[in-house]
Amino acid sequence: MNVLQLFAVLVFFRFAFVHGTTMTTRKHYIVYMGHHSHPNVESVISANHNMLASVIAKKASVHHYTKSFRGFSAMLTPDQAQDLEENDSVVSIFESRTNQVHTTNSWNFLRVDKIKQYNQLPMDLKSDTIVGVIDTGVWPESESFNDHGLGPVPTKFKGECVTGDNFTLSNCNRKIIGARFYYGGIEAVFGPLEKSKRTFFRSARDSDGHGTHLASTVAGSMVENASYYGIGKGTLRGGAPSARLAIYKACWFGICIDADVLSAMDDAIDDGVDIMSLSFGPSPPLRDYFMDPVSIGSFHAFQKGIFVSASAGNGHFPGSVANVAPWIMTVAASSMDRVLQSFIYLGNSKIIKVMFNICSLNNEVKVNLLTERTYIFQGTGVNPPTESTKFYSLIAGSFAAFPGIPPQNASYCKNNTLDPSLVKGKIVICAMESAADARAEKGLFVIQNGGVGIIIIDPAAKSDAFQIQIKAIFIDLEEAKELLAYIAAERNPIARISQTRTLLMTEPAPEIAEFSSRGPNTLTPDIIKPDITAPGINILAAWSPLAIESAGGRSVDYNILSGSSMSCPHVSAVAAIIKSCHPSWSPAAIKSALMTSATSVDNSHDLIGRISSTTHATPFEYGSGHINPVAALDPGLIYDFTITDAVDFLCSNGANSSQLMNLTGEQIYCKNQPIPSYDLNYPSIGVSKMKGSLSIWRKVTYVGKGPSVYVSQLDYPSGVHFTVVPKELKFSTTGEELSYRIDFKAHKSSNGSFVFGALTWSNGIHRVRSPISLNVVSV
Ligand SMILES: *[C@@H]1O[C@H](CO)[C@@H](O)[C@H](O)[C@H]1NC(C)=O
Ligand SMILES: *[C@@H]1O[C@H](CO)[C@@H](O)[C@H](O)[C@H]1NC(C)=O
Ligand SMILES: *[C@@H]1O[C@H](CO)[C@@H](O)[C@H](O)[C@H]1NC(C)=O
Ligand SMILES: *[C@@H]1O[C@H](CO)[C@@H](O)[C@H](O)[C@H]1NC(C)=O
Ligand SMILES: *[C@@H]1O[C@H](CO)[C@@H](O)[C@H](O)[C@H]1NC(C)=O
Ligand SMILES: *[C@@H]1O[C@H](CO)[C@@H](O)[C@H](O)[C@H]1NC(C)=O
Ligand SMILES: *[C@@H]1O[C@H](CO)[C@@H](O)[C@H](O)[C@H]1NC(C)=O
Ligand SMILES: *[C@@H]1O[C@H](CO)[C@@H](O)[C@H](O)[C@H]1NC(C)=O
Repeated sequence: MNVLQLFAVLVFFRFAFVHGTTMTTRKHYIVYMGHHSHPNVESVISANHNMLASVIAKKASVHHYTKSFRGFSAMLTPDQAQDLEENDSVVSIFESRTNQVHTTNSWNFLRVDKIKQYNQLPMDLKSDTIVGVIDTGVWPESESFNDHGLGPVPTKFKGECVTGDNFTLSNCNRKIIGARFYYGGIEAVFGPLEKSKRTFFRSARDSDGHGTHLASTVAGSMVENASYYGIGKGTLRGGAPSARLAIYKACWFGICIDADVLSAMDDAIDDGVDIMSLSFGPSPPLRDYFMDPVSIGSFHAFQKGIFVSASAGNGHFPGSVANVAPWIMTVAASSMDRVLQSFIYLGNSKIIKVMFNICSLNNEVKVNLLTERTYIFQGTGVNPPTESTKFYSLIAGSFAAFPGIPPQNASYCKNNTLDPSLVKGKIVICAMESAADARAEKGLFVIQNGGVGIIIIDPAAKSDAFQIQIKAIFIDLEEAKELLAYIAAERNPIARISQTRTLLMTEPAPEIAEFSSRGPNTLTPDIIKPDITAPGINILAAWSPLAIESAGGRSVDYNILSGSSMSCPHVSAVAAIIKSCHPSWSPAAIKSALMTSATSVDNSHDLIGRISSTTHATPFEYGSGHINPVAALDPGLIYDFTITDAVDFLCSNGANSSQLMNLTGEQIYCKNQPIPSYDLNYPSIGVSKMKGSLSIWRKVTYVGKGPSVYVSQLDYPSGVHFTVVPKELKFSTTGEELSYRIDFKAHKSSNGSFVFGALTWSNGIHRVRSPISLNVVSV
């Protein structure tokens, strides 16, 4: 059984606004101010003009939105837009573009609308791709699973709609074409599910929300006007809205038991899914390929031509990456160009701005999902605009000590340290004693003592696990200084925590999530893991209305979550798109297309960085880079490999016949001269123990049309020189294969760590890039 840890992370985004100050030309912005109950056109327009007048002449306005929601559009400079943004009535402000603003901004950010090849594909081809999602089930009534416009279930699908508690045949449709559930494993370990005393359905119905979220991210149908209380309003969609979903519920209360997972994978393979999406996995120390159900199940999937993507995990640290088998696409998590922002308004009319990418989590260590399930609206300052925005007295925990408790102890807001008569009706500022403090408990103790809000000073600017039930916000030390100075200067300090608003098109993006698991790969360091990164922060998608605990205590149809759980379905969706366009491509070919086209540069043309850090990330955080769906559809060259290559890879890593039997179910003997694992025809290149010089081999398949010449471009790792033979690859027809050799020559030891470089093949149009990671042991 896996005993995995859920991580909770709160990341403070470093300040980034819509545009740099150098841009002074005006653009058309939409200023959205949320719902309003008493539409009075005149008064709305007049209020709009008042607001606009504070930054520019009112004739700059273009549209007024006065009916079902409030707002206006206007021609503004970025600076003016920023000034407006600071007005508390503004929910979000974004540039008006010809296409609709997508709530699931991630798909906008990934430009999936620009994939002509896919968009022009006939519906029956697009809708022939089936994605199996193994998780906590699905909420079938969600609007995201409507089957408008979808034809009959593909005949190749052999799955079933298994009925159960509150799940009938009518809960499947042409979108959710299969539903199964597995509980034998979990009951074997923990006893009957009823013992949990939690809401659940003995069926594929999702009471947890996680599975619903993933499934709708992959293949949710278009839903207009989706938002969480106006945060991130727009059209909601999955990445491959025409693809079909087969749901396998093998996870309960956040726990996925190996045996249940393996049964689900077994069924999914047999049912005929094309893609499998797995947002869970073990945490290190990793078990060997032969003993890990995800590795075993996905090996069989690979053999049957099924592409498997799995989350890298939320392990923060070097060596924490999970699901590392080379036949799995391992997905890290990064930000997109949307940031949520809250303000603390102080009585002296000062405003403390807190920008953040939220990630959230569940604080149960017993759970087995590698996820972060909850995005706590009330809990992390993501406060819906409907919330009242009153000023409250502000008090630091240290000034609210219970009689006999030293102020220092009370400053941490722990149990039995606060005086209710001092805390009642106030917002309490609490410090962290250590990074291991339970933030959720602090919130609880503030509530118990009658407090109305909490501001937590979290110097690490990150957290492990929290679930806070009241209006809350996390601030860093700089912000804390400002806040404490205000308190010190005021006789009656007051503050108000604002609603959260959405900023779009922020730079830089993407940045690697602080929580995202990192390499090196602890099982086979020759293979760079993770493979790729995709949006995994603040992802809005469908939710189970029963999963209120993880939705700020409310019953909601959509929720925002962060984690590598959320980035994985993005890759699954793009893989589904590729599969629709190139039905004959192997899982390794799809993987290669995704990896070699990924970008290592962000939207400010700098190398991808890390959230809350000014340093650049490395391939051990993003693998080959950030997913680039448009380029992945037409990669130029492919690094393919087969199941035989995978077995050779295992042989070179010392697998014996009984281990291979375990994995493949077949009697297999290794070749006498196993092929070294750095020679697996993988789309990235790694050597974990390089002594002096070394030659490695790769083979590429040309998937373009007509004759083409690819030229190599080299980016040397520090202390290593290399050459490529031949320097040019000349292709004349589609499908042609050519091999090349890389001769490495180290002139400096890398002193126990890895150095990174890259090899890119380019014909002037396509760029086929492989990151290189080398550990030079000796020269
Ligand atoms: C915010 O906008 C309102 C009009 O909607 C205006 O009355 C108010 O003065 C503005 N506040 C600030 C701080 O500019
Ligand atoms: C599930 O079905 C039972 C029996 O039909 C019904 O009483 C209950 O309300 C249903 N629960 C939900 C959440 O729909
Ligand atoms: C979405 O909202 C807009 C504006 O509020 C409204 O005009 C439109 O009809 C809505 N669409 C749907 C499908 O509800
Ligand atoms: C085969 O797999 C099972 C279950 O994953 C594991 O318990 C067993 O140790 C494995 N055997 C070998 C030889 O790796
Ligand atoms: C205050 O905190 C310190 C350190 O955690 C602890 O040793 C001490 O007992 C606490 N004092 C009271 C009165 O709780
Ligand atoms: C807080 O302390 C009280 C009694 O001192 C205890 O009953 C309660 O369980 C404690 N709460 C937590 C969450 O530790
Ligand atoms: C294969 O390796 C496993 C793990 O090291 C070991 O338990 C097993 O006995 C080996 N089997 C054979 C046939 O060598
Ligand atoms: C090599 O690493 C060790 C320990 O990590 C460090 O003390 C030493 O300074 C490093 N040497 C060089 C040349 O970087």
